[in-house]
Amino acid sequence: MMSLFGRVTSVFLVALAVAVNCQAESGGTLDKVTGKPCASCHKSKVSGAFIHDALAEKECTPCHKATGGDHQNDATIYAVKDKSAKLCSECHESQAGKTSVHPAIEAVECIGCHLPHSASNKNLLKTLAPDLCFTCHNRSLVDQKETSTVTGFREGTQNLHNVHAGKNAIPCLACHDQHASSQPHLLRPKGMNGKDAVTLTYTAAPKGGNCTVSCHDALGYERK
Ligand code: HEC
Ligand code: HEC
Ligand code: HEC
Ligand code: HEC
Ligand code: HEC
Ligand code: HEC
Repeated sequence: MMSLFGRVTSVFLVALAVAVNCQAESGGTLDKVTGKPCASCHKSKVSGAFIHDALAEKECTPCHKATGGDHQNDATIYAVKDKSAKLCSECHESQAGKTSVHPAIEAVECIGCHLPHSASNKNLLKTLAPDLCFTCHNRSLVDQKETSTVTGFREGTQNLHNVHAGKNAIPCLACHDQHASSQPHLLRPKGMNGKDAVTLTYTAAPKGGNCTVSCHDALGYERK
């Protein structure tokens, strides 16, 4: 009896779910004043090419306060609990304590690079690297061939960012981790171009550094 009832109920629920899915915005956290789902008015937060898994059930309260009152008159009512990396670190690995942590995380927080709800780019990125990097860093870091200021990555005055990321179009993320690393300057110990087998061992020197990369011999650079 129970199982037949269960099956009938679940057929009904599937039909209901299909009907409900047509209005992708239903379900999830409800507004205390109107009784409506938050997502029914804030549709853009739960639509787009990539939707944050944290919103898969259209729940808002993991990140927003849910005190009572009319939030359309008082924006603090459903305000974000915390805009800092602390909010994100409740579910994601914290980068704190690693040898080098991208100052972007402390200075501008995760939402300097990521959108919290949904995005048209993978990984919820606002834009993709290298353009993403140049929203905060100056392009002269790479464009200028000779320099004694724009970068510490140089041989004499030859800009080695220009040689690698410019002329040879090596992606920023081939050498740098976007979040943090056990080596200085966010230099990845392994995983260049997604290949774990490629390792990069970096040691800083007073006027430069030394890199041992598994695809070329140890090379050093010295600034003038
Ligand atoms: C009946 C429609 C409706 C519902 C339901 C609703 N909102 Fe809103 N919300 C609005 C409107 C309208 C505004 C003010 C205009 C705007 O910024 O979009 C607003 C503003 C906000 C803001 C402030 C935006 C800012 O600029 O600071 C947040 C945050 C927010 N809503 C979150 C929520 C959450 C979370 C829920 C559910 C708990 C919810 N809303 C439910 C219509 C609604
Ligand atoms: C993973 C955490 C997270 C979840 C879950 C979340 N939000 Fe947000 N929300 C944020 C953050 C962080 C901001 C601040 C963004 C900023 O200032 O750039 C924000 C801002 C907003 C704003 C105002 C600014 C804007 O971007 O338009 C609205 C409206 C909003 N959220 C609605 C919602 C609704 C509705 C839900 C549930 C369907 C929801 N959020 C779920 C993290 C979240
Ligand atoms: C309530 C838990 C929760 C919170 C809070 C949360 N996330 Fe997530 N996030 C998830 C889950 C679950 C996934 C999917 C599994 C994974 O990739 O770790 C995810 C995935 C992601 C992804 C990868 C998306 C992809 O397309 O692969 C990014 C980027 C992300 N979250 C950024 C953030 C940022 C930035 C914040 C803070 C504003 C945040 N998250 C807060 C639960 C959360
Ligand atoms: C400087 C920009 C930047 C900041 C700040 C940033 N991220 Fe990312 N994040 C990226 C980029 C770029 C990728 C994609 C990397 C790739 O293509 O392999 C990414 C990928 C991710 C992913 C999915 C893949 C992975 O590495 O696990 C998660 C989850 C994520 N970020 C969470 C966070 C959280 C949480 C914070 C804050 C503590 C944060 N990000 C701060 C740029 C950033
Ligand atoms: C939201 C702003 C922001 C974005 C976007 C951003 N950065 Fe940064 N980054 C900073 C700040 C702030 C610093 C510290 C000041 C400086 O060195 O310019 C920094 C420093 C760095 C450093 C030096 C770290 C050290 O310990 O020497 C590297 C390497 C770096 N960023 C790489 C990147 C790469 C690669 C990207 C793109 C994937 C990127 N950044 C995107 C803000 C940002
Ligand atoms: C071939 C590896 C490599 C690539 C590719 C690379 N970098 Fe770097 N980057 C380095 C090294 C090594 C340093 C450390 C320089 C030093 O001694 O201070 C560095 C330092 C930095 C710094 C700190 C300030 C400075 O220039 O000294 C920033 C910011 C930075 N890189 C951003 C980027 C961005 C953005 C890209 C992509 C456009 C990129 N890097 C591509 C190796 C690389």
